[in-house]
Amino acid sequence: MKHSQLYKEFAPFYDLISADYFSYEEDMKSLEHILAQGSGKKVLEIGVGTANAAIALAKSGYDVTGIDCSGSMLDIAKKKVVECSGLNIRLKKQDFLKLNLDDKFDSVLSYEGPLVLINGKNGYYFETYLNDENETLTGLTKMNDHLKDNGLLIMSVKNERNETRQLTFDGDKTYSAKVNQSYNNLRITHTVTCKDEAIVVSVVDKRIIPFQNFNSLLQQANFDAIGLDQTQKFYIA
Ligand SMILES: C[S@@+](CC[C@H](N)C(=O)[O-])C[C@H]1O[C@@H](n2cnc3c(N)ncnc32)[C@H](O)[C@@H]1O
Repeated sequence: MKHSQLYKEFAPFYDLISADYFSYEEDMKSLEHILAQGSGKKVLEIGVGTANAAIALAKSGYDVTGIDCSGSMLDIAKKKVVECSGLNIRLKKQDFLKLNLDDKFDSVLSYEGPLVLINGKNGYYFETYLNDENETLTGLTKMNDHLKDNGLLIMSVKNERNETRQLTFDGDKTYSAKVNQSYNNLRITHTVTCKDEAIVVSVVDKRIIPFQNFNSLLQQANFDAIGLDQTQKFYIA
């Protein structure tokens, strides 16, 4: 299944589930500390989803453009942005592999988005929805094309998944994610059940890119890897 398909089915549940998995407020504070060291306030978020991170950044005075390939996630994001009113956020439906905005940014962010650094039990590695390293290089090059000189690429870091995660939400619903790994491929089965009946079952395949290989792709795309921020929640290039 394509990732856009997963988020089509998942979008109505995303905010209910993600609130338990992500610490938006705390993470945004760490992120703002990094952004404050950069040259300006224009941020591009790839994989903006339902705009939780984007809204938090805009409330702190950042000028945010968010792109996502899932129309269902963006529909929810747009409603939330309208409800907040007065925020400097633009949302666009785009695949970041084909990123084509007539604009340049001070920072490009992937917060739990298409590129994430994983803190694994045997060391760090990258995880992506993209098919292989060639596609990842294409994506990184597109991101660099949209950065101003000395702009920052910032990717969130998360801990390795447990084999199975489970969460009860919205009173009578259960979400679980079961992970199977073989070599550099991850298969994640996301299931939402309501009163013991499965209402969403989505299988998503992700790729693992070893840390050294990813850093070499960064170099090929003309990025200099800077490393982890102080809080170790973000990887910066
Ligand atoms: C886990 S959600 C993260 C959403 C959001 N950043 C947040 O903070 O909650 C990942 C998002 O990345 C998007 N995504 C995955 N691959 C993408 C791609 N190639 N181009 C654009 N968006 C993509 C998905 O549609 C989804 O909305």
